[in-house]
Amino acid sequence: MSPVIADLIRAAAGDQPGAAPGGAPGPAGAGLPGGAAAARSAFPDWKFAPNIGGHPDIYEVENQAVDSAGHVLAAMRALVPWDGRTLVDLGCGSGFWLSRYAENAAEVIGIEPDPALRTAATARAARLRRTTVLAGSAERLPLPARSADVVHARFAYFLSPGGDAGLAEVMRVLRPGGSLVVVDNDHRWGQFAELLAGASATGPDRTAAAADAWWRERGAVRIQVRSELRFRSRAELAAVLHIELPATVARSWLARNPAATGLTYGYVLFAVQRAASGSASRAVADGPR
Ligand SMILES: C[S@@+](CC[C@H](N)C(=O)[O-])C[C@H]1O[C@@H](n2cnc3c(N)ncnc32)[C@H](O)[C@@H]1O
Repeated sequence: MSPVIADLIRAAAGDQPGAAPGGAPGPAGAGLPGGAAAARSAFPDWKFAPNIGGHPDIYEVENQAVDSAGHVLAAMRALVPWDGRTLVDLGCGSGFWLSRYAENAAEVIGIEPDPALRTAATARAARLRRTTVLAGSAERLPLPARSADVVHARFAYFLSPGGDAGLAEVMRVLRPGGSLVVVDNDHRWGQFAELLAGASATGPDRTAAAADAWWRERGAVRIQVRSELRFRSRAELAAVLHIELPATVARSWLARNPAATGLTYGYVLFAVQRAASGSASRAVADGPR
């Protein structure tokens, strides 16, 4: 039996401990694999992601299910097109999205602080045209000033309230007129939001309001995308819920939805443009706030 399938089955049986909800990082250093100390000192702001960092094979299944209809990719492209542009995928994880960006971008640069994930992303990039992966973090980008047109950050908890150092660094590497697009969970819509709420001590409205206010103060456009997670099997769904949520929350939802192989999932996208004349940011376009 392949390790992936064995993992999926163990997770479906509820043997895996739940990670922090929504892939949020655990306490500093929690779950860090051996050999990560050097990366920790090079990138002190790196927050280990227990979902992808602890379970890259299952996160791969999640990425395959997360936007199978392409709604999120289409919304990102509509906000800020990247055809013929230099695109940075910040916190690229194992590099799942690099190939989608490389289809149209002139150049793609994945940035990842986690050494194990970076190795996986580098192997992917080797098969793609004009795509490279570099060690770095939002706060320490190994790129010259004014060198990128578009920066993408998917599920980037490091760019959220408290993340001003990373945002300033992103603005440094963007060319005037270039844009950052962040993909986040919608804490107010969809079955996945209900699961996040069940796992959160803060409450979905407070979490969402804090993120909305932080981005609004920084001139971001905010749009919502309603989509779904669709899996090939119940075992895949169960495995993914167990890496994203505490086991009690995952088990309880699975018991209440015995036939489910998917669930509705909402996203919020925030986009900020570097002003043409300087480093201050402003909204990329008029849009719902
Ligand atoms: C939830 S994962 C998402 C991975 C990838 N964007 C995807 O959608 O497949 C968050 C990623 O951010 C990375 N990360 C954590 N702290 C970071 C930081 N300070 N700067 C940049 N990336 C960071 C993690 O190592 C992880 O790969």
